[in-house]
Amino acid sequence: MAIGVLVLAAGSGSRLGASVPKAFVEVGGTTLLGYAVRAALSARNVGCVVVAAPADWVDAAIDVTEPLSRAYGIPVQVVPGGAERGDSVLAAVRWLPAECDLVLIHDAARAFATSALFDRVAAAVTADTPAVVPGEPVVDTIKTVDGNGFVVGTPNRALLRAVQTPQGFVRDVLLEAHAAYGSVATDDAGLVERLGRQVLVVAGESDAFKVTTPDDLARAHRLHPRDPSAP
Ligand code: CTP
Ligand code: MG
Repeated sequence: MAIGVLVLAAGSGSRLGASVPKAFVEVGGTTLLGYAVRAALSARNVGCVVVAAPADWVDAAIDVTEPLSRAYGIPVQVVPGGAERGDSVLAAVRWLPAECDLVLIHDAARAFATSALFDRVAAAVTADTPAVVPGEPVVDTIKTVDGNGFVVGTPNRALLRAVQTPQGFVRDVLLEAHAAYGSVATDDAGLVERLGRQVLVVAGESDAFKVTTPDDLARAHRLHPRDPSAP
């Protein structure tokens, strides 16, 4: 089964507040996009990668991905993303070659997710379990609140998972979910849930943390002071 990976890198990174879109921020000499695409290309059975980049940054994204594509011998297509994350998914998914019947969707912002995580997610996708997401147990106690901040409930923490990417899908189920519900969910698995199909959570990893705020970027710099494969 050939796997197509969508790398979503079209966001602006407003909460990070850098001078370039978040995917183009460098850590240890490599952009977040570079780390994410390299992990995708290192995973098993990947036949193609499609990157959604900000419209003005398509050429810059090609500069990042072209050497990686050549090194791994796997095509990487860069396309302009859309206004919302879901729009970027739709912009990218249509470029997947027909033979890629399994799709992994990955946020460039989770740049340090390992290829082992891609493999674990992909291995768990089946016809009966058409959506698989990596997730980690939640350490904080979570409260649900009403509009005025009053607590309305305390979900059992043992049953909670903080989900990450890459998330894996049977391509046709992903397309059906997006056609039915559009870009309303912050994660694509949420759309598949609405279809009433099974979504499985497999073990995530701390490396797959999302770079959202300056504190997250500081953590990334601490963990990756220098990328050994950077030029
Ligand atoms: N993303 C995208 N297209 C969009 C919005 C987001 O491809 N229109 C991607 C981002 O590039 C990121 C991932 O979706 O890799 C997760 O989004 P998030 O962490 O929210 O990134 P940004 O939207 O860029 O950040 P912010 O919300 O702080 O502006
Ligand atoms: Mg965002």
